[in-house]
Order: sequence, then structure tokens, then C-alpha cells
Amino acid sequence: MNNKKFTVSSFLNAKKNKQVISMLTAYDYSTAKTLDEAGVDSLLVGDSLGMVMLGYENTLQVTMDDMIHHCKAVSRGAENAMIIGDMPFLSYHISVEESIRNAGRLIQEGNVHAVKLEGGREIIDKIKAIVKAQIPVVGHLGLTPQSVNIFGGFKVQGKSEEQARKIIEDALLLQEAGVFAIVLECIPERLSKLITEKLDIPTIGIGAGRYCDGQVLVIQDMLGMYKNFTPKFVKQYTNLGQSIDGAVKKYLEEISKREFPSDEHVFSIKDEVLDKLY
Ligand code: KIV
Repeated sequence: MNNKKFTVSSFLNAKKNKQVISMLTAYDYSTAKTLDEAGVDSLLVGDSLGMVMLGYENTLQVTMDDMIHHCKAVSRGAENAMIIGDMPFLSYHISVEESIRNAGRLIQEGNVHAVKLEGGREIIDKIKAIVKAQIPVVGHLGLTPQSVNIFGGFKVQGKSEEQARKIIEDALLLQEAGVFAIVLECIPERLSKLITEKLDIPTIGIGAGRYCDGQVLVIQDMLGMYKNFTPKFVKQYTNLGQSIDGAVKKYLEEISKREFPSDEHVFSIKDEVLDKLY
């Protein structure tokens, strides 16, 4: 739990001091404020917003403008948490120049502190250039959702020796390129343990087991608000979906019976004013 600003140095110190880094996704002002006040170290404005906020099937349709819109809202809500903005599909694949420009837009317009990119060796030139532009970068390896069509679905990665070796090599390349943390998504626990031990920078796991330096979950998943699909690695800490359903049904019942609004919810007007209106 933090009560002062969490920064790039805080990430690195946490790894050194073996303190678990907490991260949750956030996409709007009021949720960001609640999570920040609860003491979450870092808020990720993930492109998962395409699925949980915008109702897309995957993250591929999310645009820079979508990301900036949500990053702005989150940045207004958080005082201490470090805010990381996801670079969406195609915003860092075309050229080094475009990648720097788009990362810069998330910082300048979205008001985030750092950006996250999915991938390893294929995008290392873009990562180096963004870091050189003084923008802190988080890497993302394993099940990288923007590659869903290459993977043929949202599947665990790194189970074969070849896949596992590639993820380890990519993690080392990302570290060398200057990222300050790496998200490891949906890979075997013992592989993420090995990677975590090999790196000087922290790993943040999602579906990557118990040994990462930090943990992240999609907020809608852990609050029970996304009904389409719940991955095995998610723990639902509450079921807000059910609570909302109950509250809305009660509201519908009360307005139909004219029980709401009641006395306490209405505004008065003086008789002499009202009399003149008839
Ligand atoms: O977009 C996202 O929410 C993410 C997390 C799953 C790590 O990248």
C-alpha cells in the first residue's frame, strides 16, 4: 500500500526490497479515484478497455483516440498511483517515428506516466527509440492479446521449450532495451519464476503464478462485472454484477409502485407561489 507517489524508481526499489507491486486496470475517473485511495501502486489503462468497456470481441479495434480519452479520465482520478497507458494495435508497428509520436501523445494528451507495448524482439527498435525519447516503457510478453489471431485464441503461452526460450530471450532483450518492468501474461508459473529470477527489473504477472514481483488483474474481472468470459487465473473478489442486478431490479420495482422518489428525495415550493400558477 502506498501513500506517496509511485514512480519508476518505486518499481525498481520494490523488486530490490522484495515488496509485491500492486497493479489493477482502470478506465474511468471514479474507479481510478477509488483504486488510488485504496492504495494501489499502479493503474494500467489497458487496451482491454476495448472488451470490458466498449464491448469489442478483442483489443484490436482500440484506437489511439480511445486510449487517450480513457487515460485522461484515469489521470484525473489518481493522485499517487503510477499510471501506465497501453499503446494500442498498430500504434507502434508501422515506423519508429510513429511509435515515438504515439507514445508521446499518451504522455502529453493522456497524461500518463509510462506506456506499455506488447512484444519482444520484433519491436525492440521501437522500444529503444521511445526510451531514448525519455518515455518510461513497460514490456508485455507471453499471451499478448494483440496477437490473438497469430495465437489462434487466448491460449497459455510458453509451454514448449521453443516458446519458453523465446519468452526468456525476449525478456532479457526488453530489459537491455531499457524497459523498467515487464508484464508476463498467461505463462506457466515456473517459467515466470525463472524469468523473474533472471531479471533486475520487476515482472508483473497476470495468469503467471505466484513468483512475479507484482500482480495485475483486469478490474472488471476481479469485481465480477464482465460476464462474457472469466479466465482460470482470475479471482473474483466480489460480484458487483450481481449487486448491480439486484439494485436495478429494486429500483424498477420501487418506481413502478411509486415508492421512489419519496419525501426525502423531492424539492418543495411555497403554496403562494404554486397558487399563482393554477
Ligand atoms: O490490456 C490490459 O488490460 C493488459 C493486462 C491484461 C495486463 O494488458
